[in-house]
Amino acid sequence: MACFFNPTTVKNKNSKQTRNKIPWPTKDAMQQVYEKNLWGSGESDFYSGEGSHKLEIVVPYIRAIKAFLRSFDKPISMCDLGCGDFNVGKELVKYTENYIAVDIVPELIERNKEKFKASNLEFQTLDIANNKLPTSECAMLRQVLQHLSNDEVKRVAEKLDNYTYVIITEHLPKGNFQPNINIISGQGTRLKKHSGISLLAPPFNLRVKEEKVLLSLEDEHGIIVTTLYRFK
Ligand SMILES: C[S@@+](CC[C@H](N)C(=O)[O-])C[C@H]1O[C@@H](n2cnc3c(N)ncnc32)[C@H](O)[C@@H]1O
Repeated sequence: MACFFNPTTVKNKNSKQTRNKIPWPTKDAMQQVYEKNLWGSGESDFYSGEGSHKLEIVVPYIRAIKAFLRSFDKPISMCDLGCGDFNVGKELVKYTENYIAVDIVPELIERNKEKFKASNLEFQTLDIANNKLPTSECAMLRQVLQHLSNDEVKRVAEKLDNYTYVIITEHLPKGNFQPNINIISGQGTRLKKHSGISLLAPPFNLRVKEEKVLLSLEDEHGIIVTTLYRFK
């Protein structure tokens, strides 16, 4: 569940004006992000934010993931959990055997189905916290968990050991920080609380066979870190 501020103010017992937090399902929160361009707007109708479009962020990421995918003798299958506007994913499809891209926003998935077509590409509307995840050898979650509450991150994390490889990209604060401070799911991230996701730390305590940082990019807000986890 996500919480958004209800713009209508209500009077409390002492007749003081106060803002009321109304819980929203994460799907509604993410739909609102796209409808109101809360991650900015580009030339496209749906816009997943600077992290999905700025060349200095996207190009090194694609290079790193392409190198990982090409390190196998035979192409592997991928699922892209929280694929967004697919500006990044579209560059990776050709290096995979099969690519399943999912997102919680149905209108975005319908638009992606129209816009991006390949014989090995499939789109699905799915809530990764609450639905069964697609099967594949590798899963990628690029700047998705950073927008979710700890409760939802935990529900996703519990399913990740079904994959051999998981590639996670998260926006983290520079320097030392307390990981996994809880947030309400939605547009924002833990950066505003000087925190970021670490799946190996409590309360997630993910156990992995191997962990390798593939890419670290500094920007004005923090560091965007891409980590490869091996589970099998
Ligand atoms: C910041 S965007 C990143 C998009 C893409 N991964 C990229 O890097 O370009 C985060 C995406 O995660 C999706 N998302 C958030 N919660 C989700 C959930 N529970 N299930 C599936 N998708 C979700 C949002 O709708 C949004 O499209």
